[in-house]
Amino acid sequence: MTPGAPFIVRKDGHLFIDQWAAKRVADQLGTPCFVYSKAALVHAWHQYADALEGTPHLICYAVKANSNLAILNLFAQLGAGFDIVSGGELARVLKAGGRADRVVFSGVGKTEAEMRAALYAGIKCFNIESPSELDRLNRVAGEMGKVAPISIRVNPDVDAKTHAHISTGKKENKFGIGYDMAPDVYAKALDLANIRITGIDAHIGSQVLDPEPLYAAMQRLLDLADRLMADGIPLHHISNGGGLGIQYKDEKTADIGAYVKRLRDMLGDRKLELLLEPGRSMVGNAGVLLTKVEVLKTAGEKNFCVIDAAMNDLARPAIYGAWHEIIAASPDSAPVRNWDVVGPVCESTDKLGEGRPMGISEGDLVAILSAGAYGMTMSSNYNTRPRAAEVLIDGEDAFVIRKREVIADLFRDEIIPERA
Ligand code: LLP
Repeated sequence: MTPGAPFIVRKDGHLFIDQWAAKRVADQLGTPCFVYSKAALVHAWHQYADALEGTPHLICYAVKANSNLAILNLFAQLGAGFDIVSGGELARVLKAGGRADRVVFSGVGKTEAEMRAALYAGIKCFNIESPSELDRLNRVAGEMGKVAPISIRVNPDVDAKTHAHISTGKKENKFGIGYDMAPDVYAKALDLANIRITGIDAHIGSQVLDPEPLYAAMQRLLDLADRLMADGIPLHHISNGGGLGIQYKDEKTADIGAYVKRLRDMLGDRKLELLLEPGRSMVGNAGVLLTKVEVLKTAGEKNFCVIDAAMNDLARPAIYGAWHEIIAASPDSAPVRNWDVVGPVCESTDKLGEGRPMGISEGDLVAILSAGAYGMTMSSNYNTRPRAAEVLIDGEDAFVIRKREVIADLFRDEIIPERA
């Protein structure tokens, strides 16, 4: 089964994103481009939302996974909250019509300017990651005559058993406040004039396939929350972060509905609003990176398929050695061979996949699947390459939701100093 099915499937050799053949998208809008299925996004939303029905909750979509305004707007319309990690992401959420009072602000290094912007907007809460951040926020809020709502991001010291680069919940990671230290920080927060305690949160990592560590983290949070509430700390919400993995290849992933149900059971009749911060599982399999084959070449034993997308468009294979399914988007035009799929960037790590069987010729379309999360948001202009266009397919309609960059944009803000 293709990751992204039933919204993204290959029929008679033609790749379809909802009702649009990839070829039709490419003919009209060119390549490379990220193509997203609205139906797949809405489906992912409902997997969480339906399972949470009946429990006070807020799904805070993790903006970093895909921050296009159209996608944020779609989730805002569905009732989402947002997990942000910068003033930039806050500005995007507000621009896209998201409600500030549904925003939670994570991150270990929030600047004073970011704190001010978030206080001004009136966000739901700051997820505090260090004692000194708490002091700083108290001071900044005081200067503004405001009271800052906070949650403490607790580091539950649970191993998410995922790639080391995206594991965040062990005590040696930079994230959160140590489990044993958290009660003292809460006690201190209680005394600060410009701080109001509202919750407790954790996030242990990303692309988590076996949900057991996520349950373990939730249990650690609940144990701590019970102690804190018994000591008179007023908690109103609990967030178990994001992290559920998706299928890129043949991974067995946790069922979202079953995961949510288990969290609800664990929560029991505690009067706490349940927050989640899913990113990848909301958007990852709702998008593909559509590219064109520029050059086919053979070197020694290797067959290279050089496409018009590269590591600057999709960084995950180069950074994490991540595996993405790569398929021909049109019917085979040549005998199937195994191809190393590479981009034109001058780096050996600019390899999107190795030994992929495809029956392709130059000029054909190739799609990199599961590219909806951490694709566009991690893209760059390396090698002075304009970033790809983004397209949202909604049934019969296709909307350009980000124009392809033009080269002149890339050095518009650069200045050659004038000499006297
Ligand atoms: N909440 C917090 C505080 C986070 O740091 C993250 C992701 C999430 C929620 C969302 O996690 P998700 O549901 O997407 O797993 N660039 C990497 C992933 C980095 C994730 C960082 N934090 C990748 O491409 O695999």
